[in-house]
Amino acid sequence: MNTSVSYASQLDENDPLASLRSAFYLQKDVIYLDGNSLGLLSKPAEQAVLQMVEDWKTHGIDGWTDGTYPWFTLSETLSEKMAPLVGASADEVIVTGSTTTNLHQLLATFYQPSSKRFAILSEELSFPTDLYAIQSHLDLHAISHEDGLRLIESKNGHRLDEEDILAALTDDVAVVILSSVLYRSGQLLNIKEITKAAHEKGILVGFDLCHSIGSVPHQLHDWNVDFAFWCTYKHLNGGPGSVGGLFVHSKHHKRLPGLRGWFGSDKQKQFDMSSTFSKSSHAGAYQLGTPHLLSMAPLIGSLDLFADVGMDAVRKKSLQLTTYLRDLIEHLPETQAFTICTPYEDEQRGGHLLLEHPEAARICKALKDHGVIPDFRSPNGIRIAPVALYNSFTDVHQCVQVLADCMKNKTYLQYENKRGVIA
Ligand SMILES: Cc1ncc(COP(=O)(O)O)c(C=O)c1O
Repeated sequence: MNTSVSYASQLDENDPLASLRSAFYLQKDVIYLDGNSLGLLSKPAEQAVLQMVEDWKTHGIDGWTDGTYPWFTLSETLSEKMAPLVGASADEVIVTGSTTTNLHQLLATFYQPSSKRFAILSEELSFPTDLYAIQSHLDLHAISHEDGLRLIESKNGHRLDEEDILAALTDDVAVVILSSVLYRSGQLLNIKEITKAAHEKGILVGFDLCHSIGSVPHQLHDWNVDFAFWCTYKHLNGGPGSVGGLFVHSKHHKRLPGLRGWFGSDKQKQFDMSSTFSKSSHAGAYQLGTPHLLSMAPLIGSLDLFADVGMDAVRKKSLQLTTYLRDLIEHLPETQAFTICTPYEDEQRGGHLLLEHPEAARICKALKDHGVIPDFRSPNGIRIAPVALYNSFTDVHQCVQVLADCMKNKTYLQYENKRGVIA
């Protein structure tokens, strides 16, 4: 393979998304490769936040209906921009809550156990908050975790085998909750096939899209997924704690949300202040209280960037970046000590790679000190996410050079082997 830096610049010159990089705040001499944990601030997102503050300053209470982005309908307005990212119509999506609260809402709605069908199927590599939410709903229904919680096992601690997922779809499972992309290894599951197989067994299907939204295209409506939920602070660059989103397939829109609040009302009736809930006819019904508008504002700008380029172009470049990263790491003798735990096949890979090494914690510290920002995952994982909207092939090249130097000179040995909260 061609490992020269001039080849990396050549790839950048031929990159149709290269000009988007200037829309983001990239720090000088820093290579940011942690966009799958917290995406970077873009100028349109910053502008939207400033505008919202300005509207608050100048309109006060009238900002709910006047101003640049009337607050009363902003969740719905943003859902129109979010829907293409998940392959849904605007009325199947709502920008609201967080991953965790949205999963609670969706389980409260869709998990209706009976004596025959009472289990919730997930997997042992799930992000913990999803499992905690599932456990809460079993508890609320007085179903023991032993009986009700089914976790698909991973044979290698990184990935799931599709045959194991399919085999776990038994007649007593009510709902299956899986992640589209596994947060550690970056494995991308086959959402379409899993959904089809689950439906053949009469099981409802929900996906956590935290690691795929903004990185991988979806067709949730056509794949007939029942529901999905996600955050917006990773690949969607909505900022720390930005408001999440959810999808409910239109075939379920007559259902009453399990958790109800006044912002889930039909908008025409919300201010009637009736003691009876008149639900919105679409996914907006799953909202609870007053939207967290200042945490939603960045999405106004950041979603526009996706609309400009489209998900197919984003996915194409993302795959090129992760392939290039993997090839370099495998090619250079200094970096061959890393185990790459992410699937090789494009159709099974999300937007990041997981490298494992016993010294991962110290290596991450050394990388950070040398201007490369990775993501440490305890106990021995380094996630690297070259993001299509703002990372270049030269970034990837430099990252691997720094990694190779660090391994060759063992510079990581000078760092303490203690772990902080994040790394
Ligand atoms: C797959 C997955 N689910 C859930 C979460 C976190 O949920 P919340 O946004 O509610 O904090 C994360 C955070 O990294 C995640 O990666």
